[in-house]
Amino acid sequence: MSAATAPPFINLKGVGITLGGNPVLRGINASIPRSRITALLGLNGAGKSTLLKILIGEISCRGKVIFRCGHDHTRPAPKHVGYVPQRLRVEANLPLTVRDLFGLALGRRPLFFGARRDEARHLRMLAEVRAPANLLDRWVETLSGGELQRVMLALALDPHPELLLLDEPASGIDFLDKLRYYDDIAAINARDGTTVVLVSHELELVRRHAHHVIALSGGTVAFEGPPSGLPESAELGRLFGR
Ligand SMILES: Nc1ncnc2c1ncn2[C@@H]1O[C@H](COP(=O)(O)OP(=O)(O)O)[C@@H](O)[C@H]1O
Ligand SMILES: [Mg+2]
Repeated sequence: MSAATAPPFINLKGVGITLGGNPVLRGINASIPRSRITALLGLNGAGKSTLLKILIGEISCRGKVIFRCGHDHTRPAPKHVGYVPQRLRVEANLPLTVRDLFGLALGRRPLFFGARRDEARHLRMLAEVRAPANLLDRWVETLSGGELQRVMLALALDPHPELLLLDEPASGIDFLDKLRYYDDIAAINARDGTTVVLVSHELELVRRHAHHVIALSGGTVAFEGPPSGLPESAELGRLFGR
């Protein structure tokens, strides 16, 4: 079965949620194809981050989120989901190195034995995202936007996820880093068949790399289809209700 004809990895049926008295999502119907890159578009406040949080089960919603996993459960197990949130919740002054962050995230306390094996794993994780090994000893708070995104991606990719959710991963990084980041995501998707959902404002990169687009506006789906079906820039305002 080709990717184009395979049943979707996720079906959203009438997904709705009210937050703080506001109907943020009002009956979303959409599907997320397996082993493809889906871009999630929409203005600030459209509910994109909320939708990702629904997908990881952090918040519950009305309607149905139907997963068709490659293994025998109805939702991917947590170890099969990689998630890079829009904002990293690290205390600004917490003295934490990248090595500490990896250790915490992988659920290991810095025990003496095992440290060597961890070191090898941490180096592999950085190599996987083409980040230099010396990042391990850097304080997290001193990383550039691009370096921090690499570190977060490295964490999301270990263990290898079936579903990779990236919330505006390229915001706050420079143009070349952005191009490289999208190229890397495309390469991971092509190599491993990872299903990717990426919140983005980078229309040119979405047109180049995404296979599928879902655009949210006013709590509903304003557009769903291949990026080639997206209107030209001049008409996008209308699509998004502006
Ligand atoms: N926990 C919350 N309580 C109340 N309102 C919320 C909460 N989380 C998000 N919202 C509101 O829901 C809307 C959608 O938020 P969000 O999903 O973060 O949008 P986006 O990621 O598209 O910018 C915004 O108006 C936001 O203020
Ligand atoms: Mg957001």
